[in-house]
Amino acid sequence: MKEKFSFLRSTIGRKQVVALTGLGLSLFVLTHMAGNLLMFVSPQAYNEYGHALVTNPLFIFAELGLLAAFLFHALVAIRLQILNRSARPNGYAVTAKGEKATDPISKTMAIQGLIILVFVILHLIKFKWGAHYTVDYGKGPIRDLHRLVVEVFAEPGYVAWYILCLVALGLHLSHGIKSALQTFGLHHPAYQCRIKLLAIGYAVAVAGGFIAQPIYMFFFFKG
Ligand code: HEM
Repeated sequence: MKEKFSFLRSTIGRKQVVALTGLGLSLFVLTHMAGNLLMFVSPQAYNEYGHALVTNPLFIFAELGLLAAFLFHALVAIRLQILNRSARPNGYAVTAKGEKATDPISKTMAIQGLIILVFVILHLIKFKWGAHYTVDYGKGPIRDLHRLVVEVFAEPGYVAWYILCLVALGLHLSHGIKSALQTFGLHHPAYQCRIKLLAIGYAVAVAGGFIAQPIYMFFFFKG
């Protein structure tokens, strides 16, 4: 038991916590993006999906799991970065080149994470705890989230802010998924290129799917 906790305090243990929670959060954003695509089908399909989700008795457990994953991911990642910095306060004497070079996306992971954190907090205030409109499709009143989404994405400032944050999310996913898979041992030179492509494809699908939503609402949706 004691050994298990000391493993979690080691660098590799911490990396595995960040990787595992990161992969869990990556699955969450994929399902959230895919569910939201129902706004392209009809307001009713979108609202009924949202209603089915929040009235599911297991929803509270999913929310608690999500909150725990967010907290562990952010706090352990920050701790790892602080430990890395204090281990080499003056940086490397020689700059790495080629495969080993730290690209700007990996260097700014903490900043991207911070942008995503601020985004999620404001996002929850706006949508989860925001205006509570209702609509009735014949089975009693349910929350009209579609109306709220239309209202929010009618404001150009919001659309721009969302796109900026979703680009940060895409960058974070493209580097994060690749790193997480490597942390779990998938770093054989033969698979390197495929892992990178998989991570980029996933990031583009998630961020692109999300970005399409404010753009559609702002430019094309005729209520
Ligand atoms: C265009 C993009 C997005 C739209 C239109 C959107 C829409 C929504 C809506 C309407 C809700 C409220 C659901 C409800 O209470 O029934 C919600 C909840 C949430 N969204 Fe988003 N979302 C978007 C992007 C994102 C992204 C990129 C993230 C994370 C990085 C995210 C994280 C969350 C979380 C954590 C919740 C709360 C889930 C819960 O109820 O526990 N969303 N979103």
